[in-house]
Amino acid sequence: MITSVTAPEESPFLRACRRQSVPHTPVWFMRQAGRSLPEYRAARKRKTMLAACTSADLITEITLQPLRRYHVDAAIFFSDIVVPLKAVGLDVDIKAGVGPVFGRPFRGEGDVARMRDLDPTDVPYVTKAIGSLVAELGATPLIGFAGGPFTLASYLVEGGPSKNQERTKALMYGQPKLWHALLSKLTDITISFLRVQVAAGASAVQLFDSWAGTLSPDDYRAAVFPHSKRVFDALAETGVPRIHFGVGTGELLGLMGDAGADVVGVDWRVSLDEAARRVDIGKALQGNLDPAVLLTPWEVVERRARDVLARGRTAEGHIFNLGHGVLPETDPDVLARLTDYVHEESARGPA
Ligand code: CP3
Repeated sequence: MITSVTAPEESPFLRACRRQSVPHTPVWFMRQAGRSLPEYRAARKRKTMLAACTSADLITEITLQPLRRYHVDAAIFFSDIVVPLKAVGLDVDIKAGVGPVFGRPFRGEGDVARMRDLDPTDVPYVTKAIGSLVAELGATPLIGFAGGPFTLASYLVEGGPSKNQERTKALMYGQPKLWHALLSKLTDITISFLRVQVAAGASAVQLFDSWAGTLSPDDYRAAVFPHSKRVFDALAETGVPRIHFGVGTGELLGLMGDAGADVVGVDWRVSLDEAARRVDIGKALQGNLDPAVLLTPWEVVERRARDVLARGRTAEGHIFNLGHGVLPETDPDVLARLTDYVHEESARGPA
């Protein structure tokens, strides 16, 4: 059991999310569970990604795997952003090496009319897994998550991963009424999926709007912001910290905070001191070591991590993370060493 006597409420991770003082900078890694771990590859051997995401036992096991290796300050619920869409009956699969692929991509109004909201009974494995995880984790907080409405729409409209988001943008720019109808439905599903996770015991939530960075601030404000804001507003009553993350979102950081996030996730393109200037007061930051740095000699990792910590001190609260997910070729021992380094270096305070 990975437990101690205190409750998650007083953990460094939740304290940093709330911009309170911490004994050390908390750290966790996006995709800390996943292909970089041999035990993950073994657990997944005979199961498809979606089969793993709908098995309470596998969710629990895979979520705990990185906690057995790293002294990370939080666990992240093992799932995928398309799990709630599958749960409401959409024809989606996750193809290895590709990502989410829809059998029948979004084609128009009829598809909006057919989409329904998610009910907790659609995802019993989520409630069950989180219940077991919270009991097992003790004082270590569990982060729940969902995909942001834009990123979900992008997969649904494109039918799969897309570099330029051309179909998504054509719908967004050309048919705003239909776009907002689609995003409203996806927002309902996202809110329901996050509520299930918090009701089951998740201590914080992260909204992954990974591909929102392809939009200009004006388009983001008009087409995405109201929906993401509705997600954060709906979660406010739960009292759990809300993290908002995207890739290439340097120009959107202020807006992503204004949408209602307590913590703004930053990728490696914008330094944390600059990000701190771009968000409004009252926000903590999360990030932002380039995941590719973990493939370099330790001296480079250490120097770069120290720089992230130094710049993170200019924020009102800082949670150390990578700028995006752990790359599959990452050596887990480097992540273990980095976790301990962040703890020790930050506990020492500024040089
Ligand atoms: O962070 C974690 O450890 C929690 C697990 C998690 C997964 N997906 C597991 C996963 C989280 C938070 C996600 C979110 C997710 N899924 C996002 C947002 C975060 C991001 O990376 O920007 C997105 C865009 C997706 C969609 C998706 N699912 C992609 C792009 C892929 C990778 C495709 C590939 O094989 O390279 C997936 C599959 C996926 N989701 C894997 C994992 C561990 C790999 C599947 C495998 O093991 O074969």
